[in-house]
Amino acid sequence: MASKAVLKLEDRDYDLSIITGTEGEKAVDLRNLRADTGYLSYDEGFGNTGSCQSAVTYIDGEAGVLRYRGHPIEQLAEHSSFIETAYLILNGELPKPAQRKRFSQLLTENSAIHSGMEHLFEGFPAEAHPMAILSAMLNSLGCYYPHLARNDHQRDLQNFEETSAVIISKVRTIAAYSYRASRGLPYIHPRRDLPYCENFLHMMFSTPYEPYIALPEVAQALNLFLLLHADHEQNCSTSTVRMVASSGANLFASTAAGVCALWGPLHGGANVAVIEMLKSIHAEGDDGTKFIEQAKMGLADKRLMGFGHRVYKHYDPRAKIIKESFYSALASLGIKDDPLLDIAMRLEEAALKDEYFLARKLYPNVDFYSGLIMRAIGIPENMFTVMFAIGRMPGWIANWKEVASNPKGRIYRPRQIYVGANVRDYVPPHQR
Ligand code: CMC
Repeated sequence: MASKAVLKLEDRDYDLSIITGTEGEKAVDLRNLRADTGYLSYDEGFGNTGSCQSAVTYIDGEAGVLRYRGHPIEQLAEHSSFIETAYLILNGELPKPAQRKRFSQLLTENSAIHSGMEHLFEGFPAEAHPMAILSAMLNSLGCYYPHLARNDHQRDLQNFEETSAVIISKVRTIAAYSYRASRGLPYIHPRRDLPYCENFLHMMFSTPYEPYIALPEVAQALNLFLLLHADHEQNCSTSTVRMVASSGANLFASTAAGVCALWGPLHGGANVAVIEMLKSIHAEGDDGTKFIEQAKMGLADKRLMGFGHRVYKHYDPRAKIIKESFYSALASLGIKDDPLLDIAMRLEEAALKDEYFLARKLYPNVDFYSGLIMRAIGIPENMFTVMFAIGRMPGWIANWKEVASNPKGRIYRPRQIYVGANVRDYVPPHQR
């Protein structure tokens, strides 16, 4: 097995060492490339770049494998809960009963938000997008907990248990409050007796005069949704969190940046884009056939949303799990005859047989079904990506911790290939 690679540049050979991950993944170590050779590596979009070494999540995109801390996603989906999985992602091991209890207690104690923060919601216009509010509020948490947001990794790490509990618990309260604020509804405070998902649904849908009691199937579907989104290695938002963390920034600021990166339609915003696509197909009276033909033309605004993935080139294991649970959730919720669902199924069937999608290895990703699940359990559309953010929080936090605790960590600072104008003189305005 090669332990080094040889790079020939001009008339010189350079030895580059090989790094091998615990699952046998190999990488050429380019850390000294520029210093040794004067050359940069060029990899726009980072499709071939290992930006860090991480022990959180393993993905084999060709084989459709996803593991959190070594545990297959299928086993966690069947046996675990979002909160237990969050603990695993944060701490590296499944919790013992006493650890699980303490984690739950910490979440319960930290679920309410400061009354001063409640007023901040009123400053946003009624139509403000909950993702913008979520990001702003997460960052604001640092103002209410300055002792947890020192922008000093050594000191911030000493309070990691508290800070991570504050964020994982409060993100759900902030999310529910942003929805209530956008509807002009009174805030519903968290309850100590409710588990994580039920408590979120209570804050979303209870009224001061009538409690919302979540059906077990609804809470279960939400639990699974969050668990399946809990981490996904170096995706756009997680890389953003690491990038921000690498400057020494605190956990609130870093995760707030993750929310912004997640918002776009090519990433977490795809779950909304899927529903919008299905609605517009329906409104045009198309059964999906016309849309598939347009999607094959390669136009950016006619992509088959919820299809394709940078890493998965066979299938997305999360999509498989969510699809399997989808029909049982619909049955228990008594939902049938949803025209959008019919269109989605037709699109999937057609794309999975079509040479265009097969040749490019475009299969349904988790977002193809997750929007439909959210819709079925009554989550409003503009909250879909917020739900993704709640789910992804443990992964962002664990990745922040890896950056913060790396004694050899350096600020993330890529280079570029400059292709602009060469040096030229300033021209006074009257001569231009
Ligand atoms: N519909 C139609 N064509 C597509 C699609 C699609 N959804 N996705 C990729 N292609 C085509 C693309 O036009 C290109 O074709 P060609 O080689 O002829 O130029 C080829 O497939 C490769 O596409 P790419 O844009 O280079 O692939 P990428 O790895 O840069 O992008 C992606 C990955 C997920 C952004 C992209 O597949 C996409 O835009 N999908 C729709 C949005 C979506 O569902 N995003 C959610 C991702 S999963 C949740 C998450 O982790 O965020």
